[in-house]
Amino acid sequence: MSIDTSKVNKDLDFFDRHESLWLFAYGSIIFKVDFDYIEKRAASIDHFSRRFWQGSHDHRGTIEAPGRVVTLVPDINAHCLGMAYRITPAVFQHLDYREKNGYLRQKTALHFDDGSEEIGLIYIADDSNAAYLGPASDTEIATQIAQSNGPSGSNKRYLLDLADALRQLGSDDTHIFSLERLVLAL
Ligand code: BEZ
Repeated sequence: MSIDTSKVNKDLDFFDRHESLWLFAYGSIIFKVDFDYIEKRAASIDHFSRRFWQGSHDHRGTIEAPGRVVTLVPDINAHCLGMAYRITPAVFQHLDYREKNGYLRQKTALHFDDGSEEIGLIYIADDSNAAYLGPASDTEIATQIAQSNGPSGSNKRYLLDLADALRQLGSDDTHIFSLERLVLAL
């Protein structure tokens, strides 16, 4: 899967002149909220699975020993639960810098518990970026996470904080909870 960058730019044009817009968070933005937001709501998106397939040498690992962080992978029957934040466009300056290691913004439909829907943005990193690591067995991913540390802290803490945040949201994300079990057992 490769991101079509011309489409990404069109996705951003869609929000021109909007005073606020929804960002769907499925990773660290759920548990590390270092930006202002107008409101937040649990939300979900369809046709994507959360996967620890993106390498991290700037937050949870180093260039010599990258950690693993989550990205979204297209998956036709999947449903991904997370947190939506309504933010002003200015907040993207901060988040684009924070998530600069291979992530691009893409437009997608967000679903809320009351049945309503909004168009929002996700950050997504695919196999066209240099830091992408792709799939590996759960044991390999857990071992890499258990061993990695970077400027933002340990990769293990990232996984455990994400698993806790997803538990609070009522998520049944088997990829995340099985990695949590493996890392805690190591
Ligand atoms: C997120 O929480 O949605 C997220 C965090 C980091 C990179 C990409 C997405």
